[in-house]
Amino acid sequence: MDKYDYVIVGSGLFGSVFAHEASKRGKKCLVIDKRDHLGGNVYCENVEGINVHKYGAHIFHTNDKGLWDYVNQFAEFNHYRNSPLSLSKGKLYNLPFNMNTFYQLWGTITPAEAQAKIDEQIAEYGTSDPQNLEEQALSLVGKDIYETLIKEYTEKQWGMSATLLPAFIIKRLPVRFTFDNNYFNDTYQGIPKGGYNKIIDGLLEGIECKTDIDFFEEREKWEGLADKIVFTGKVDEYFNYEFGQLDYRSLRFENEILPVANHQGNAVVNYNDKEVPYTRIIEHKHFEFGTQPSTVITKEYPDEWTPGKEAFYPINDDKNQAIYQKYSELKKQQPNTIFGGRLAEYRYYDMHQIIASALTAIKKEFNEN
Ligand code: FDA
Repeated sequence: MDKYDYVIVGSGLFGSVFAHEASKRGKKCLVIDKRDHLGGNVYCENVEGINVHKYGAHIFHTNDKGLWDYVNQFAEFNHYRNSPLSLSKGKLYNLPFNMNTFYQLWGTITPAEAQAKIDEQIAEYGTSDPQNLEEQALSLVGKDIYETLIKEYTEKQWGMSATLLPAFIIKRLPVRFTFDNNYFNDTYQGIPKGGYNKIIDGLLEGIECKTDIDFFEEREKWEGLADKIVFTGKVDEYFNYEFGQLDYRSLRFENEILPVANHQGNAVVNYNDKEVPYTRIIEHKHFEFGTQPSTVITKEYPDEWTPGKEAFYPINDDKNQAIYQKYSELKKQQPNTIFGGRLAEYRYYDMHQIIASALTAIKKEFNEN
């Protein structure tokens, strides 16, 4: 069998960027992925001519011109701006919290009025030493915003009462005193025209890739095929769960094709009320200003993670961080394995951060500066 310079486990953004850059530097790469498609969590499935974000809504945003130019090599981006809505007790509110939201909540017209309302509520309900998520949120934005737009949504998301959740989950709750519904503050934002698969296809063009292959099923074979392994799977699994299992939160997605051109008029609508079991509905065509005659929606349900389910969000509490630290030490003893990506680093990363981290790994590997 052929020998490779790198066998890359995982074809998500980390693995694909690494493979692309290593190949550009003359190295021979093989990319394997246990799923039946390439692209990891940014993969889009074409349904009724609409790019469906199979693993949750993905909006690219960055302040880094270099990273923006990097992704634009592979696809042109559209002018999509993320401006989600939240439905609470039958009323729609704009997010993130801004002058539109304050008007919808209180009828306040000027920034000074809205600021006074928030200050008044923080003074009444806040505390200087918040002990849980509820106290933290009340101290940051007061009662009305918390109860209308945060409490029930967050409790659904985490599957427990906000008074039992740690305060650190909400570090900041940005409030904006302008009529600006653009969720991200970044200079560059958009969705690749034709979906994220275009970027992955561009990155992996000319590189040997195999899907439906779980590295652990024939670990020795893959390790024997290459000088180095680039591993983007779960770090605890790599070390055979020696220090125990790392916990995650999962999500369950339910897709529906609807015979209407426009179901909710926006790509993302959050459902705050506890009586509704899902947290949001994504209408995918709006990411690309689609004009198809039908539409595809996805209801997103928070889900307890158990082995075998998709591991989406790391639970970076003290217990799990302590376990991760031990795996982190073991990683240092593996000179022939490069660990990268959200699962190997047990960390939530946005797409631009993952690309940046893969480019940093390349520079380190090739002694470039
Ligand atoms: P990723 O999970 O994509 O890839 C890892 C790959 O490794 C997978 O394909 C997996 O199958 C494979 N693999 C694992 N174990 C293996 C094994 N044993 N053998 C073979 N293959 C194996 N970011 C952003 O910028 N804007 C956004 O709007 C969003 N939205 C968003 C929504 C949701 C619900 C989530 C969970 C995440 C986001 N993100 C995001 C983050 C974004 O998804 C993330 O930054 C990248 O997809 C991470 O790329 P990785 O390559 O690290 O992992």
